[in-house]
Amino acid sequence: MKKQILDVCDLSVVRSGKVIIRDVCLTINEGEFVAIVGPNGGGKSTFLLAILGLLKTRSGTIEIYGHPPMSRKLHRKIGWVSQAASYLPKDVKITVRELVKLGTLHSGNMFDFLDSGRNEKVNQAIRMTGLEAVQNTPVARLSGGQRQRAVIARALATESDFILLDEPLVGIDPESRNSLLKLLDRLCHEQGKTILMVSHDLTAMSRSAHRIVFLEETIRFDGPTWSFPDMDKLADLRGIANVHGD
Ligand SMILES: Nc1ncnc2c1ncn2[C@@H]1O[C@H](COP(=O)(O)OP(=O)(O)OP(=O)(O)O)[C@@H](O)[C@H]1O
Ligand SMILES: [Mg+2]
Repeated sequence: MKKQILDVCDLSVVRSGKVIIRDVCLTINEGEFVAIVGPNGGGKSTFLLAILGLLKTRSGTIEIYGHPPMSRKLHRKIGWVSQAASYLPKDVKITVRELVKLGTLHSGNMFDFLDSGRNEKVNQAIRMTGLEAVQNTPVARLSGGQRQRAVIARALATESDFILLDEPLVGIDPESRNSLLKLLDRLCHEQGKTILMVSHDLTAMSRSAHRIVFLEETIRFDGPTWSFPDMDKLADLRGIANVHGD
């Protein structure tokens, strides 16, 4: 049987007195590439923040590798690429290589400057994201797509097995988008990583993710990508009336 990475049960989250997500149940197994899609304000980022343990939940349970969010046991197991990742501050004077190297730092090796294994991890992450040519370029001078890939490279360098990404395709050119999706797919198939990615780009997701979850306050659809409903069926699932009907 496949190993369960994430198990969310009956989750509800309230922000500023408003129910943002309710009764969400989701199980993700090792090696899956799951996309969360849905309208603006549907609760996608809220859901990821709850999984990371950054938001208080009203009810329900969240387990990652069998542990609650923020558990010390999850240290270095989770990689996180936030929605704002491509908007790294422009005034930070740091090269791509330095940014990626930050991903390898943890309290145990902070002062271990001779760690050659760390350099190897950095090289590998830079190679996988196709950033070799710009590795010594300051992050502030990168294009949106390159910057997004640099943030992903940092997450890869942590060697986490479960990677969560919030809208990593926003603001990147089609070529970078394609190479990023290919990379994520390879990480699942070749390295057994598990990916949970939020995206507005349903067409891109339908060509890459193995499974799609439609979240709008609660889960309206969850199934293999090939079975994602057509527009009409989706409108029914979302409870949108047909204004042309009788
Ligand atoms: N800090 C906050 N405090 C209170 N409510 C918030 C906060 N952040 C977001 N919300 C509300 O929570 C709801 C869901 O927001 P969320 O950011 O999770 O949606 P989303 O699906 O990620 O949307 P988008 O596609 O625009 O990124 C929205 O109605 C939003 O107004
Ligand atoms: Mg969001």
